[in-house]
Amino acid sequence: MSRTVSYECNDRVALITINNPPVNALSQSVRQGLQECIDQLISDDQADIGVICGTGRLFISGADISEFGKAPLPPNLPDVINHIEQCSKPVIAAIHGMALGGGLEVAMGAHYRLADAGARLGLPEVKLGLMPGAGGTQRLPRLVGMETALNMITRGQPVSAAEARQSGLIDRVSSDQDSVAAGIAFARELLADAKSGTAELAEHSTSAALVRRTSDRSVTALDDQALADWRSRLQQSARGEVAALNALDAVAFSANTDITTGLAEERRIFVQLMDTPQRAGMIHAFFAERKVSKLPDIQGVAPKEIRQIGIIGGGTMGAGIATSALLSGYSVVLIERDESTAANARQTIERNLQGALKRGKLDVNTLQTILEERLETATDYQHLAQADLLIEAVFESMEVKRSVFSQLDAVAKPGAILATNTSYLDVDEIAQATSRPEAVIGLHFFSPAHVMKLLEVVVARQSSVELVSTAFALAKKLGKTAVRSGVCDGFIGNRILSHYRTAADHMVLDGASPYQIDKALVDYGFAMGPYAVADLAGLDIGYATRQRKAADRHPMDRYPGWADELYHLGRLGQKSGRGYYLYPEGSRRGEEDPELAGIIDKTRQAAGITPRSFTQQEIVERYMAAMINESARVLEEGIAQRPLDIDVVLLYGYGFPRWRGGPMHTADAMGLDTLLAAINTYAQEDAHFWKPSPLLSELVASGRNFNSLNQP
Ligand code: COA
Repeated sequence: MSRTVSYECNDRVALITINNPPVNALSQSVRQGLQECIDQLISDDQADIGVICGTGRLFISGADISEFGKAPLPPNLPDVINHIEQCSKPVIAAIHGMALGGGLEVAMGAHYRLADAGARLGLPEVKLGLMPGAGGTQRLPRLVGMETALNMITRGQPVSAAEARQSGLIDRVSSDQDSVAAGIAFARELLADAKSGTAELAEHSTSAALVRRTSDRSVTALDDQALADWRSRLQQSARGEVAALNALDAVAFSANTDITTGLAEERRIFVQLMDTPQRAGMIHAFFAERKVSKLPDIQGVAPKEIRQIGIIGGGTMGAGIATSALLSGYSVVLIERDESTAANARQTIERNLQGALKRGKLDVNTLQTILEERLETATDYQHLAQADLLIEAVFESMEVKRSVFSQLDAVAKPGAILATNTSYLDVDEIAQATSRPEAVIGLHFFSPAHVMKLLEVVVARQSSVELVSTAFALAKKLGKTAVRSGVCDGFIGNRILSHYRTAADHMVLDGASPYQIDKALVDYGFAMGPYAVADLAGLDIGYATRQRKAADRHPMDRYPGWADELYHLGRLGQKSGRGYYLYPEGSRRGEEDPELAGIIDKTRQAAGITPRSFTQQEIVERYMAAMINESARVLEEGIAQRPLDIDVVLLYGYGFPRWRGGPMHTADAMGLDTLLAAINTYAQEDAHFWKPSPLLSELVASGRNFNSLNQP
């Protein structure tokens, strides 16, 4: 008998319990255990009905994702679920916590389903580049109808127990906290009803009459127009992702056929998806985002307790960080330089919180408590004396930051953490402005800070391990994904961005238009192209960075002079209504500006360049080669500890398409030798910019890939 599934019969009800921590994934031993327990139920003279339940915090989290891409181990899940459905005695699924993917498919194979009031039920496979492959695309429409099934399967979002009850996915919502007890009670009711003749099944005397198979139900097809509408909506939203469109085909198929043919078709499509690079990319992303916070150096290091957070600077960034902290239960003291800017900061935070209220992220009472009791705005640093963590979010200038830090050093209590939100500057140098550099760390939030999920934890030379552990614990409480970075100009993300943006600028110098580049990258799957991003951030930011780095400029650097000219023309991007794009009347969607070409041409002429044409493919190849080459340098310098850290930064902070898994995963998929050969070709025209990273060359020479460096 399997170690992970147990069978116990009491008073004619057999309890089949899955115990596979941490999340009851349907690994081989669970599948086998379920199969054997159903056999036992069938042959057990003492049992009339079975109840499947899970231990721990949730029912079943789905197929065991770590088995994907490997040789399948029998029994396979569709067979196990068919076996449950074909069981000659009734089976109930008693769901608590969550039933996801294969977990919900198991429940749909059972004859009855109940869930506790807080449960979430869903088929999230599209988020892993897959679709349900164990009957979900055939059984869900039979239970809830085509529209609801398509909504759940193509979006991958779970529904609440109440919604599941309403749609017919489950039979009841148990208010009882103990779903096992509720499942057993449901079983006894069914048996009693069948016996007493009060139920619809009165005429039957044995429990076999209670068997009610989802597969026996029929599905009403969508009409052609509705199906075409679904397809065109998904084509628009999928942006290159294939899973949801395949899921649409499989679900639509359920209406035209019997269950056996439907399941075979589902299997055929599922197996095809399993072989796609998109599946590999999304599953890499799934595990990377979980491994990213498991840093060997902070294992077992207890984080400091944080209750009150002080924030210095109430601009967009400071106010966003304050909002995020308040939404996560912290008290905040925000310091601005005078009463009027402090009042503005409070207004921005209130606006952010109102937005959160509208989106259902907090209720009116909590909003009121936050504003009355947990948010203080002030102008005097003395108000920071009780803060456990102080986050500086002032103007991006070393001089200003150092001055702020020496003042913080004077007022912060012993043991307080002093953090800077700088996005480029040397955190070691900032730390030296204090008498306690071991208490200084970088917390690089991304704008808008109450929305963006990424937090770069910038570990300075003397930052203590306890600080790092606290920063990761803080990120978790804020609902953010933290990535450890070392100190360098721009840390992991902005440093790599600056390099691939330079590659894009070179292509513009040589003849590509910024619009063509943005389009190529959006078609590749990025949320936005680099020039639309620049407009969003503000072209003054790029200008300030170029000014800051002017002294270090190399004579061989190719300079994007047009970008300075745009700045001098007051074309600052979205905020001034005009940057690379035009934003008429405050619109956030840019329109192409015919005047841009002339501005860029002036720079080309000054540099004596005859423009040439670029294909979409060449644009993407050069952009990716620059991104990956710089990523490799970030790794070899130890700024990022593992390739997966870089993947997570680009996925969470820079709009990298999730289904491509991140730049390091993409590099492995492309083949590092191909990539190195491309870089060497580009180096023939510009050996200064296109220097292959030694790490990349070494990996190619030793036949390894980036993923080999992800292993512990
Ligand atoms: N298969 C294998 N491992 C899984 C898993 C699955 N289906 N679901 C979660 N895990 C692992 C995680 O990798 C993590 O492992 P680790 O501790 O070694 O890092 C552990 O279980 C806990 O998961 P985590 O995501 O950290 O816990 P959580 O409480 O935040 O979230 C879930 C739990 C179930 C909501 C979340 O893990 C999830 O969404 N899982 C995937 C569900 C899914 O897509 N199912 C369909 C599969 S086709």
